[in-house]
This record gives sequence, structure tokens and C-alpha cells, in this order.
Amino acid sequence: MKFPHDFLFGAATAAYQVEGGWNEDGKGLSNWDVFSKLPGKTYNGTNGDIAVDHYHRYAEDIALMAGMGLQSYRFSIAWTRILPQGRGVVNQAGIDFYNRVIDECLKWGIVPFVTLYHWDLPQMLEEAGGWSNRATAEAFIEYAAICFKAFGDRVKHWITFNETVVFTGLGYISGAHPPGKTDDIKGYFTATHYVFWAHAETVRLYRQLRQFGEIGITHVFSPAFSVDRQPENLQAARHANEFDTYWFFDPILRGSYPEYVVDSARRNGWLPDWTDAELATIADCARYNDFIGLNYYQPMRVVRNHQSEKSVHSRESSTGAPGSPSFDGYFRTVRMDDKVYTKWGWEISPEGFYEGLLMLHERYGQVKMYITENGLGDEDPVIDGEVVDVPRIKYIEQHLKAVKRAIAAGVNIRGYYAWSAIDLLSWLNGFRKQYGFIYVDHHNNLQRRKKLSYYWYRQIIAERGESL
Ligand code: BG6
Repeated sequence: MKFPHDFLFGAATAAYQVEGGWNEDGKGLSNWDVFSKLPGKTYNGTNGDIAVDHYHRYAEDIALMAGMGLQSYRFSIAWTRILPQGRGVVNQAGIDFYNRVIDECLKWGIVPFVTLYHWDLPQMLEEAGGWSNRATAEAFIEYAAICFKAFGDRVKHWITFNETVVFTGLGYISGAHPPGKTDDIKGYFTATHYVFWAHAETVRLYRQLRQFGEIGITHVFSPAFSVDRQPENLQAARHANEFDTYWFFDPILRGSYPEYVVDSARRNGWLPDWTDAELATIADCARYNDFIGLNYYQPMRVVRNHQSEKSVHSRESSTGAPGSPSFDGYFRTVRMDDKVYTKWGWEISPEGFYEGLLMLHERYGQVKMYITENGLGDEDPVIDGEVVDVPRIKYIEQHLKAVKRAIAAGVNIRGYYAWSAIDLLSWLNGFRKQYGFIYVDHHNNLQRRKKLSYYWYRQIIAERGESL
């Protein structure tokens, strides 16, 4: 079986992780420009000031992607290039830059798939309360409108937000992302609510503009599984899915929040001060939202937590490896002896991916899905000058097979974007953790080189995955 003829084979990046040019051509300061320079916040103090210099080398990079046969490139727009202060005056040089990127994609027949928000919030908005302030959501809607009007004639696939659970969870609970708050649970729930409200308003706006493209949101997809059949661990898995999956997917796809989490948040005083009008907008959006993007790296293996110790808040404990209690102490994620893990302790589980997709299918039916990220973070071996990233090939191969099986089982998946198109900056792990098909040589003027996976993915795209 080949993948369907309209299935998109792509790869992804995000502005802060690739562009650099952090203060060029009128760009404003983002929260990451500031946060990454606070002592101890990132791995060895790495930051995105230069990143991999995609800002200046985008044409070379997109030509390399075209050489791989890439059908679609998912990238994000830096809000601060368009609106340096977050609201108000538009920076034409920022519009011009993304026009060039989009036109370069189209020149090669690559479909641009654009994320509006991949975590780099204008610092002015962060200082005014960030995502726990409704004004940030209002500013986002204005920013989205500017992007639709500037780029919507050529961009027909839009993602509003990338991974709300990460930037709100790490931003308000563990403090590992800006604004660096810890244990502000109400702030966390409030931030998620304003993101969903902003998403809903933006989808409505997009419809009103009649640009005839599609719009959705991208979520982390880490389905939770109990480690065994013990009732309390099964309940822990349910709890994890309610809080970390359904809280995020339900408002987009069902138009309402899951009762299980609402009840718990109400009991604990965490419920956002939402208005009936906001809830009505969210309810309405479910009818217009076109798709859901899934970023899958690993599932969660969970047990009921009986230990009283709280999670330690540090960069190291926030990088995604299992072993911590949930913020409410109800369950904990565990590392299991019979599973396989990456060098950064992330489980490799194509089965978890497949089973999780079936779980989503059961709950949300025929909703259109894109896999908007999936990939292996590794330190790639270089042998005789060749980047021999065989583990990455194996990883993507297994996960593409899971996607193929899921499609055969009736799950409506329309595209796959490997993370990442090119090596880039990992927010908390620096440049050492590589994901790309294209290698960037940090010892040699950021020179680009094709990895073994580049040739492999090219072959898979050419044959439309028939051999998988
Ligand atoms: C996703 C993000 O959470 O995971 C990406 O959308 C990120 O921006 C990717 O780079 C991998 O995470 P990490 O921590 O391994 O770099």
C-alpha cells in the first residue's frame, strides 16, 4: 500500500529554533530572547540569537528540502518580526521576510504549512501578564489577522498554536519556560483557556475572511497507559489522559471542557475566571476547526502516586523524560525495564503511537489529523565525514508504519511532518540534541550537509511509502 495521493510528506521547524537574526531588521524582543539569557535556564546558556542562521540561509535550506522531495514545510512566524511590540505598528521588513520564505517554498512546489505561535511571545506582552492575561489573546487575534491578510493568498494551511500544554505547563508550573513561574496552577489553567479562546476567535475570523484554506491547532500527543491492570493504575492513566490530553483536545474538537477536569479544578480553586461569552465562542469553534495537529514523541507510562515528595523544578527535570509526579501528585510517570529509550530518556514506542491514535479516533471520530511533529533527538555519529543517523531512519520508519496502519484502521491522517527538517536549537538541550535530515556544522561556519536520513526520506517520499 502506498500512502494516499493527497497525503503530505513534510518536515518542520520553528522560528526561534532556526532563524537567528534576533535583533535584525526591526524585530522586537521575544520572551525567549530574554529568558534564554537568564543564568541556568538553558543548556550551557545556549540561545537562539544566531540559531542555525535560517534567517539568512532560508533559500539554501529550502533548496535542500526541495532536493529531498519534501512536499510541505511546516515553519513558524516570529510574532516579533511582524509586530515588534506585540500590537500596533507592523514591521514591513518582517512581512517581507516571510513573503520571501513562502515564495521560495512555492518556487519549488513545497506547500507552506504555517504555525502562528511556536512559543516566542513578544516580551512586552509577557511583561503585561502573558497568557494568563486576556489582552495577550486579543493581541494574538490581531496578529493572526495581519498574517492572514499578508500571506493568506499563498498560505492555505494554518496552525494557530504549538503545544499549549508545554508552554503553559513549563511556563506556570515547572518554571522551565517563560514566564518561569512555579506552582501557579490557576495561572496555568487560565493561560490554557485564553489560548483556546484565542484559537476559537481566530478560526472564526479566518472563516470571515473567506480565504478558503484550512486552520487547526497542534497539540502534544502523549497518550497515557497504565503500567499494569491494577485498578488504581488504570485510574491513574485515565486521570493523566483527562488532564493532559482531553483538557486540550475537547475544547477544540467538542467545544467544551472535560467535566472530570472541570470538577477537580473547581474543587481546588484552579478554574479560570471565564465568561459565558468565551465559553460560547469555544463551543462554536468546534464546528469550524478543520484539523488537529499531533506532535508525537512518546507515550506516558503511569502509576498512581503514593509518594509525598513534590516534583523538583529544574531544567533537567523538565526535559520530558519519565520519572516525575504530576503537578497534582495524583500519578507519576515511570521508566519501564522492558521499554526502549533515547539518549535523553524518551521512550521509543511506535505501538504507543498506534494505540493512542485509535484512542483519539474512538473519542473524536473522523476528525482530520496531521502528524505535525515526530522524530528522534540524538547525537548523530559522523563516520568518515558522513552523518550516519541510522537510529533516526529506524525511528521514522517505525512511526510511519504506525501511521500507515492507523490510516488502514480508518484514522483520518492527512500528512506527516518529521521533526525536524534541519538540525536546530533544542529549547532546553542546546544544539547537542539533533533531529534534522540536514546536518549543521557548528565548527565550520554552520555549513549544511545531507545526512543518511536525507537520502532515505527522499526515497520514501518518491515511492510514497510503499515499501514501509
Ligand atoms: C516539541 C516542540 O515539543 O518538541 C519542538 O514543538 C521541540 O519545538 C521538540 O524542539 C523536541 O523537543 P526537545 O526538547 O527534544 O528539543
